[in-house]
Amino acid sequence: MGNEEQSGQKTAGASKVAPATGKLGVMVVGLGAVATTMIAGVEAVRRGLAKPIGSLTQMGTIRLGKRTENKFPLIKDFAPIADLNDVVFTGWDIFEDNVYESAAHAKVLDEKTLAELKPYLEKIKPMPAVFDQFYVKRLHGTHVKTGKNKRDLADQLIADIQAFKKTVDRVVMIWCGSTEIFLEPTAVHASIEAFEAGLEANDVGIAPSQIYAYAALSEGVPFANGAPNLTVDTAALIELSKRNAAPICGKDFKTGQTFMKTVLAPAFKARMLGVSGWFSTNILGNRDGEVLDDPQSFKTKEESKLGSLEYIFQPELYPDLYKDIFHKIRINYYPPRGDDKEAWDNIDIFGWLGYPMQIKVNFLCRDSILAAPIALDLVLLLDLAKRTPELRSIGIQEWLSFYLKSPQTAAGLYPEHDLFIQLMKLKNTLRHIMGADLITHLGLEYYD
Ligand SMILES: NC(=O)c1ccc[n+]([C@@H]2O[C@H](COP(=O)([O-])OP(=O)(O)OC[C@H]3O[C@@H](n4cnc5c(N)ncnc54)[C@H](O)[C@@H]3O)[C@@H](O)[C@H]2O)c1
Repeated sequence: MGNEEQSGQKTAGASKVAPATGKLGVMVVGLGAVATTMIAGVEAVRRGLAKPIGSLTQMGTIRLGKRTENKFPLIKDFAPIADLNDVVFTGWDIFEDNVYESAAHAKVLDEKTLAELKPYLEKIKPMPAVFDQFYVKRLHGTHVKTGKNKRDLADQLIADIQAFKKTVDRVVMIWCGSTEIFLEPTAVHASIEAFEAGLEANDVGIAPSQIYAYAALSEGVPFANGAPNLTVDTAALIELSKRNAAPICGKDFKTGQTFMKTVLAPAFKARMLGVSGWFSTNILGNRDGEVLDDPQSFKTKEESKLGSLEYIFQPELYPDLYKDIFHKIRINYYPPRGDDKEAWDNIDIFGWLGYPMQIKVNFLCRDSILAAPIALDLVLLLDLAKRTPELRSIGIQEWLSFYLKSPQTAAGLYPEHDLFIQLMKLKNTLRHIMGADLITHLGLEYYD
């Protein structure tokens, strides 16, 4: 008999996850298109104006026990996920616009929806940001902190966090800020001590996103990285995350093209179909597109988008199918489209006896409509991780790879990109922390 399909919860109350009591404070770095769409969306859902479509924590169910038991609770009823009514937002931006103004500028949500939510949205005003144009060439912000060095700036962010903590019960931080220039780890990222010395010495390897992350982790606040920036993907900040029981995850929300890639590529591999080329191009006209028009920011994004196919196809295991794949990615800034990104993929595949075929994917998506529920879920699940003894001190939350284009993993471990393996991992992690049996779909017991 396969243990995979065995009965539901082991023992009622086996879970050691602390309940989600009181207010959850969400500190958002970068109140742009994604962030304002998330915040406005949460308020619309709270008021019953819309459904939280795209959010697994809000709409998803989880099967418990055997298929014959018919137990499919909502994920949010199964695990103690914070209630949306208890979520309180604040944030930082390099522009002074409040969330209403910024959302109006982003033009993701229609005017009628924004007008209804205006009294709430305009009350959320950004705190001055930690910013340096060296790391995001296309932005010129004025609403920024000044300090004698990066340590001083980190201390100012820590003071912001401490002040916010007094008004809520728990805090999570998420980076919804712009894509920074491409950076690789250097000696300054090797340990907490080296990083702290680097803050004092204004080390060029420490970008603003790392200063926010350092401030959050120093305060025991979980941190999610929605951009492809290096940020928490360094030995120093992983060590700080573990030391202060502040869970982390990154990088880069998996929304449009890569979402599709991590569905299609596993399908080709499952059927042992070969791939000789995958050409991906995009047009988008929002501020993110403008930032990515700078070659150094694009390089950061490109690295994040390129990785998925390499890992999914495992060309070293399947040289006949994937050794010579030509993978190309382009992002073109095209203002008329605003946030409505259009992505084209041309995939050259080959089948039985090597006969070639082509697949064309044309995804006319709304970037921030896809990203907002992902940002929300990451915030809620990091808060859950912080309340889970088994998860809070392990650093990287690999079970959240489901949401991320370039998932962070432990050193030496390759990332899992297949969306459905990622989903299984996420749900099994929830079952595990809640004391329910895992499901691996063996199911032999139905045929005993
Ligand atoms: N929209 C998507 O589908 C999607 C998908 C994956 C990743 N992302 C990433 O998410 C991030 C946000 O995307 P967006 O579309 O909301 O972009 P956006 O340009 O609309 O918003 C980013 C905001 O961050 C602010 N910002 C930049 N640097 C800052 C700093 N140091 N401190 C505080 N604020 C700062 C900018 O002023 C801007 O308001 C980008 O890095 C993007 O690449 C977006």
